[in-house]
Amino acid sequence: MHLYTRLDNPNHTQASEVIRRLEGAEAGRVYASGMAALSAPLLGLLRQGDEVVALEDLYGNSVTLLRDEFPRFGLSVRWVPSESSSEVASFLTPRTRLLLLESPTNPTLRVHDIALWAKAAHGAGALLLVDNTFASPVNQNPLAHGADLVMHSATKSLGGHSDIIAGALVGSEAILQKLDAFSHAAGATLDPMAAFLLVRGIKTLPLRVRRQNENGKAVVEALRSHPKIERIHYPGSASPEEERIAARQMRGRTGMVSIVVRGGREGARRFMGGLRIVHAASSLGGVESLASMPVETSHRKLSAEELARRGIAEGMVRLSFGIEDAQDLVRDLERALEQV
Ligand SMILES: Cc1ncc(COP(=O)(O)O)c(C=O)c1O
Repeated sequence: MHLYTRLDNPNHTQASEVIRRLEGAEAGRVYASGMAALSAPLLGLLRQGDEVVALEDLYGNSVTLLRDEFPRFGLSVRWVPSESSSEVASFLTPRTRLLLLESPTNPTLRVHDIALWAKAAHGAGALLLVDNTFASPVNQNPLAHGADLVMHSATKSLGGHSDIIAGALVGSEAILQKLDAFSHAAGATLDPMAAFLLVRGIKTLPLRVRRQNENGKAVVEALRSHPKIERIHYPGSASPEEERIAARQMRGRTGMVSIVVRGGREGARRFMGGLRIVHAASSLGGVESLASMPVETSHRKLSAEELARRGIAEGMVRLSFGIEDAQDLVRDLERALEQV
């Protein structure tokens, strides 16, 4: 029975069901945004005094939620630098209840070993939550590698058309039921019309993501040794070890590519100004290609030291490739690089 739409609605049931199946989960829920899908397990499962062990390279707002808002509730965080990812077990304490991982990371596209993090979590009786927004369920299923919960900003690839804000969380019914009371009371409910658009978007998810994967790969190959580019970040490119992990846990490498252009922040601004097909906008995973400068958008609230530690350069431009023609995209990027 559907009692009241803040609790659930047939459109929510349909959206949760299709995302649950895509991730190979027992159960699923949808929320008002990706941040609501992250807040639900954090605030619905944890108590005062509990500790979260989180990868340092999370999405900027996930960092600010944990760093700036958590302490008021008596929750603390131990941050794991990317370089120490394989030693995550040594960061856990008897108070650790939840581990939070993102792979590939935003915007540096580092790849982390989900199975290794799951083993560390379970060894300490904790849960592993993975933000799978960047990979999408087409490229990666963290539950198959031992994660307990997977969240999505469904605003991105799942919705696919940059016209909704939505979030999703999947895992066991027992865990999800525990956090329903909190999210229903807090009102983190997805608008039913957005749930309908989400389901409609998901109908083309595999087609879109496969094309995005192809476009990302084509651009990396075309621009690999471009003189105006200092560095390209692409899943698996950071080291041979990350390449091995990516080959093991990902089916495709996403349409996400971050480039560091010469000339720092000014060089990146010139590049952005020269784009004609790729739009300057701070989202990702949609049918249209988007470019954004992390230091001015998603990671603007991080200090210079925090940015440097995460390898986020002033001249970095994060590119989310859509479903346009690969050659058109390459030509657009080459033309924009002439402005640098
Ligand atoms: C990796 C990742 N997680 C979570 C979020 C938050 O999602 P939303 O904007 O839907 O709240 C974003 C948004 O950009 C993201 O990129």
